[in-house]
Parts: sequence; C-alpha cells; structure tokens
Amino acid sequence: MSSPILIRRIHRWLSIAFTVAVIANIAAMMLAIPAPWIGLLALVPLIPLLATGLYLFALPYLRRWDGSRLAAE
Ligand code: HEM
Repeated sequence: MSSPILIRRIHRWLSIAFTVAVIANIAAMMLAIPAPWIGLLALVPLIPLLATGLYLFALPYLRRWDGSRLAAE
C-alpha cells in the first residue's frame, strides 16, 4: 500500500477515535463526572490527526511541484 493511501486511512480511523473522545467528553460534562483526563483524551487522536491532515493537504501541491520540476529537467 502506498504511503498517501496509508496516511489517508490512518487519518480516517483517527477521526473516529477523535469523535468517540469528543462524545465521551460531552457525556462526562453532562453527567458532571469530575475527570479532567477525559478532556485530554481527545488530544491524543487530535495531534496525529493534525499531522496526517496537514500531510494530506500538502500532497497535491507537493505532487505538482515535483511534476513541474521533472518537466523542466
Ligand atoms: C486537525 C486538523 C485537520 C486537518 C489539517 C485535516 C485535513 C484534512 C485533509 C487535507 C484531508 C484530505 C481532503 C482531500 O483532499 O480529500 C482530510 C480528509 C479527511 N478528514 Fe481531516 N483534517 C483535520 C482534522 C480532522 C478531524 C477532526 C476529522 C473528524 C473528526 C477529520 C476527518 C477527515 C475525514 C473522514 C477525511 C476523509 C478521509 C478519506 O478520504 O478517507 N479530519 N482532512
């Protein structure tokens, strides 16, 4: 499997983990459960989501840059 496809798949599954953590956070707030670590739980998938998301964002520009450089050579 090529790395852009793998990164996209990782980003997709991290988004599910992030969504579950956000729902747990909302549930803890509504039930007034005093557990500050639940708030931090969402940060665990969010940080790699940011890294993989920025990679996915840059991908078409990196490809274009690489293609134009190859055409010029
Ligand atoms: C944290 C910063 C994030 C950045 C910079 C980011 C960026 C991106 C980019 C650039 C794409 C590819 C769009 C494309 O060209 O098709 C993408 C896809 C996607 N993102 Fe994010 N994202 C972020 C966070 C999130 C979050 C919080 C969620 C959901 C909870 C999410 C869910 C998705 C999904 C489901 C896709 C489609 C993946 C696929 O094609 O299989 N992302 N994101």
